[in-house]
Amino acid sequence: MLTQHKQDWSVLWRNVTLATLDPSHSQPYGLIRNAALAIAGDRIAWCGLDSEVGDLPEDAALKVIDGQGRCFTPGLIDCHTHLVFAGNRSDEFEQRLNGLSYAEISEQGGGIQNTVMATRDISEEDLLERSAQRLACLEAQGVTSVEIKSGYGLDQATELKILRVMDRLKSLGSSHIHRTFLGPHALPPEYTDKDAFIEFNCETLLPEIKRLDLADSVDVFCESIGFSRAQSERFFKAAQALGLGLKIHAEQLSNQGGARLAAQYQALSADHLEYLSEQDAQAMGQAGVVAVLLPGAFYYLQETQLPPLQWLRKYHVPIALGSDFNPGSSPFIAPRLMMNMGCLLLGMTVEEVLAGMTRNAAQAINQGHCRGQIKAGYFADLCLWEVESPAQLVSQIEVDPLRTRVFEGRITEIS
Ligand code: NIG
Ligand code: FE
Repeated sequence: MLTQHKQDWSVLWRNVTLATLDPSHSQPYGLIRNAALAIAGDRIAWCGLDSEVGDLPEDAALKVIDGQGRCFTPGLIDCHTHLVFAGNRSDEFEQRLNGLSYAEISEQGGGIQNTVMATRDISEEDLLERSAQRLACLEAQGVTSVEIKSGYGLDQATELKILRVMDRLKSLGSSHIHRTFLGPHALPPEYTDKDAFIEFNCETLLPEIKRLDLADSVDVFCESIGFSRAQSERFFKAAQALGLGLKIHAEQLSNQGGARLAAQYQALSADHLEYLSEQDAQAMGQAGVVAVLLPGAFYYLQETQLPPLQWLRKYHVPIALGSDFNPGSSPFIAPRLMMNMGCLLLGMTVEEVLAGMTRNAAQAINQGHCRGQIKAGYFADLCLWEVESPAQLVSQIEVDPLRTRVFEGRITEIS
């Protein structure tokens, strides 16, 4: 407790419930009812029972707010998006309704390639404008941290353009942005040889991106319609040598051993995982790799193979939940809908989906030490919701209960 520094507090909310998501609390959700929470600048200064607040310094410039019994959670974290893109893929939606599969559309030159062409054609300013609108839409629903992947350029000019757009979104200062370079996302039309494209990523793109400091992590689509385990490993080695974090699209449509690779290289996360084996779940648990589940893509592609939740639980793999927001396989900017789908489609509990979009999502973007929980010393990234219990956030998705959003101590009231 940091009560001795009360003179530093800038805002104090009283009469609130806190779903802290702090695992050191014994209650589910780390719940504290009849609570209070103080912030000092961009950090959480103190949280606990309202009855423990005690006397407040009289001359301090402290704003005291009556929380009216509302519920604080950590700001939501969307740890897997592809939100910088142009074009739309509605025609593919119809093709799939007519019986073509996602993989077949990709093999015929549609899918990711389609978005690549549109993203190559658009100006940086227009791309920024569209992406900023999407980011604002996530923020209006309580998201305070977003991971964004490139991968719709697949040539140097467009990949750098996408990464610069992410950097400019970061400069807006309204959310924490984790920038991921997803060079090996698909084979671009200029290449016929996947190994040669991996070499271009390792030898040309990665060093340039590192020199310009445009990425925090890398990602690779390890899949039969993407890149093999050996190709993914080559890319991981090159990225790790440059000090970048590692992520992987693994076992989405088939088992390629991507999750095992993530464990070997101590990646931040392995994402999708519908075809994960028990052995690989165990390896992920031992290596502390976060499993990022993406119910939006599962739903939109009408998948039937469920990610093996029972093994993730058995081997204590931290489970996060992302939107996978992208135009082809998961066109959703709706974090609470993703949590609802996590429960109803994937069989997760409410506590698991909430941890999946806060504490465990923070770990998936290397922010577990400072975001994703309500805890003294952590960033003041918070949502104040007009709900009586955390379950209402996930079950009642037709109303918008967000009343206050706080990002690094900056407060936005939502009317
Ligand atoms: O996570 N799997 C590869 N990447 C995206 C899909 C991208 C797209 O279809 O445009 C995903 O599902
Ligand atoms: Fe994805």
